[in-house]
Amino acid sequence: MPRIICAGLIAVDLVFEVSHMPAKGTKNRASTSRMIPGGGSLNAALAIAGLGGQVSLCGAVGDDVFGQFLRQRMRDRGIDDVLVSTMTEMPTSRSAIIITPDGDRSIINHRETGLAPASVALPTDFPFDAALVDTRWPAAAAEIVKAARHAGKPAVIDAEAPVANARKALSAASHVVFSEQGLADFCGAAGPDCLAQASARLGCWCAVTRGAASVLCHDGAQMTEVPTFKAKPLNTLGAGDAWHGAFTLSLAQGRSELDAVQWANAVACLKVGRSIHDEEMPTAQDVARFLNAPPGSV
Ligand SMILES: Nc1ncnc2c1ncn2[C@@H]1O[C@H](COP(=O)(O)OP(=O)(O)OP(=O)(O)O)[C@@H](O)[C@H]1O
Ligand SMILES: [Mg+2]
Repeated sequence: MPRIICAGLIAVDLVFEVSHMPAKGTKNRASTSRMIPGGGSLNAALAIAGLGGQVSLCGAVGDDVFGQFLRQRMRDRGIDDVLVSTMTEMPTSRSAIIITPDGDRSIINHRETGLAPASVALPTDFPFDAALVDTRWPAAAAEIVKAARHAGKPAVIDAEAPVANARKALSAASHVVFSEQGLADFCGAAGPDCLAQASARLGCWCAVTRGAASVLCHDGAQMTEVPTFKAKPLNTLGAGDAWHGAFTLSLAQGRSELDAVQWANAVACLKVGRSIHDEEMPTAQDVARFLNAPPGSV
């Protein structure tokens, strides 16, 4: 199985399921709550590990109970945490997350800038088959993307707002996949024209994921739309992160971009159908079964 390096945000998610979005200044009781691993990079690493890939995570936690909780989860899931630093006197990044009955999530994240140091101690021979970085740690993103490209491997960026902070990584990446918010941040809006513009500006393969709507892809010459699969969303938290993990793993396995997008759509669809109490990520077997009998596409 390919070995992927994932770098970026590692956080603890404190998740609350509520019957409706709270009004400002009110007290509210959640129907359920849970503390789970989170952050784009850790979520992607968990997805890759669940799909059977080898994954090395690169990022930082604080020297607190949240950091210990996350380390344990990484070990439980077989994620290599050698490149995860523990920063002294620093709180682990944490998010408060509200999930409404439609499965939609609202997120407030806190992270200290000290959790994203200016450089990363990468192995010199780049022993990975692909890299996935996010825009939350631009210095590491630039270094890792450069090393991956130097080794001739795919370097994927999960382009979430603020995107421009990671401009060095963006200019060297082989694949940039925006969220709608990320594309709007980078280009002023999130329509198909903007994706074409982004692909021309960056000179690489670009795509934008749009929740339940189709994924738009642009290879520099033409736009292709890849349908998502119909899901009954229970929880869309981390769907994009799992998507990026699956996409990168799929590229590392030698699939074409469009096949990788379809596979990632299947992984993310299975993920959004699982509740916050189900921490198991879809396996490659789950995805194969699903693709043999998908419930329909939109
Ligand atoms: N309601 C849904 N139904 C089916 N598939 C979904 C749904 N929501 C998300 N997905 C799948 O997950 C992918 C990524 O979702 P989305 O565009 O919402 O990510 P995002 O905005 O980056 O969010 P995040 O990173 O916080 O998870 C979509 O392209 C799609 O394949
Ligand atoms: Mg995302």
